[in-house]
Amino acid sequence: MPASAAEHTWGVQRLRIRPQGALRGRVRVAGAKNSALKLMAAAVMARGTTVLHNVPRITDVECMSDLLRSMGLEVAWADGSTLHIHRPDLIVPEAPYELVERMRASIVVLGPLLAVENRARVALPGGDDFGPRPIDMHLRALEELGGTFVAAHGYVEGTTDGLVGTRILLEFPSVGATENAMMAGVLAKGTTTIENAAREPEIADIAAFLSAMGANISGAGTSTITIEGVSELEPAEHTVIPDRIEAATWLASVGIAGGDIEIAGARADHMDMVLAKLTEMGMEIVPTDGPEPGLIVHAPDRLHAVDSVATLPYPGVATDYKPLLVAMLSTADGVSIVTENLFAGRFRYIDELVRMGADIRTEGHHAVVRGRERLSGAPVRAPDIRAGAALVVAALRAEGETVVAGADHIARGYEDFVGKLTSLGAGVDILD
Ligand code: EPU
Repeated sequence: MPASAAEHTWGVQRLRIRPQGALRGRVRVAGAKNSALKLMAAAVMARGTTVLHNVPRITDVECMSDLLRSMGLEVAWADGSTLHIHRPDLIVPEAPYELVERMRASIVVLGPLLAVENRARVALPGGDDFGPRPIDMHLRALEELGGTFVAAHGYVEGTTDGLVGTRILLEFPSVGATENAMMAGVLAKGTTTIENAAREPEIADIAAFLSAMGANISGAGTSTITIEGVSELEPAEHTVIPDRIEAATWLASVGIAGGDIEIAGARADHMDMVLAKLTEMGMEIVPTDGPEPGLIVHAPDRLHAVDSVATLPYPGVATDYKPLLVAMLSTADGVSIVTENLFAGRFRYIDELVRMGADIRTEGHHAVVRGRERLSGAPVRAPDIRAGAALVVAALRAEGETVVAGADHIARGYEDFVGKLTSLGAGVDILD
């Protein structure tokens, strides 16, 4: 592992940012958090040892490792970013509250456990900083496959006599519901089709891994996924796709501070819409070929506003990019309107940006952002992973010093966040 990955941001509470002008240099993105966590959950479905490469060294991965261990699996880092997961014959198909509470994504073990063990007991995730995030679509999809659920004592308990393939029509292309249905479907008898499926690159990555395990899936990455059930899966070896949200974080950093950087490992083809928006703001972004693809990025001294940005399911602009975009627009030249279509409460960090002098007015799920030449350094608090990163990034164009508290949120999703930013010349250090 990079020596700094654990040391730099784990357990860190406060980061101090002192702008040092334009950014220069090269940064490499780690594997995608939102793929790695689900691949780890899928490993439950095959007895033996799964090997995952390019797994990010982040606290959410540690949390998923703890969850798998609590079920009786062995999880260990090999070298660098390779994770070995060993599933014995007998496991405890349960996700306890202490772990689900730490990480909502734990719910993704529900489908795999039900499929392979015919039962599962998973603590109900509560709401979080983005407002309520129900799991009704997950449960409905698994019920359609033959699962029966009861909720009691803060847990949902599922049982089945054996899942059977069927047609599942999701009322919204939920990422988590698509993943749970797809993972359960691979071991269901007969044919499962998931319509109105989420199309995120992470879904296609999980399908590629499941196929390597022996599953028979087509259409992942499109809105109709078709699965022919198989009776058993084998452990497999797989390399996690790069994290497009991390890549966008370095794009936002250079967009705000100005400069020239290279983002190694970033996949332009996973980021079409957001790259188009950033280009509209005045950035020059050129994809590179070679053994490791990436992006060469130039940002002018100041970006300009865009008429409107709206978050949408993939291939639309991801909701996870939004705090970064709002931070960028709050120092761009002109007025922009940003609309959140996925998570009702996902505007809370705006109060923190306003404390830094940003001129942002929210109305329902819209935010009107009037760009200021510079923000003003202030003590602020990170409400979640992406908003935390966005506050740090915003501080790169704030007069004076900004201190971001709650920085442990950032370590949930970013490997060596401070190390990577400082390697680009940003003035960021750990206070405590
Ligand atoms: N929803 C329901 N019922 C359900 C499932 C979802 O109403 O049963 C609603 C949610 O409340 C939300 C919308 O549907 O309003 C979208 O939720 P979705 O299920 O697509 O999101 P998710 O699977 O819970 C993943 C990522 C999020 C990312 C969203 C949207 C993981 C671990 N999380 O969440 O990433 O914002 O998709 O793209 O994959 C992050 O990385 O920090 C993060 C929050």
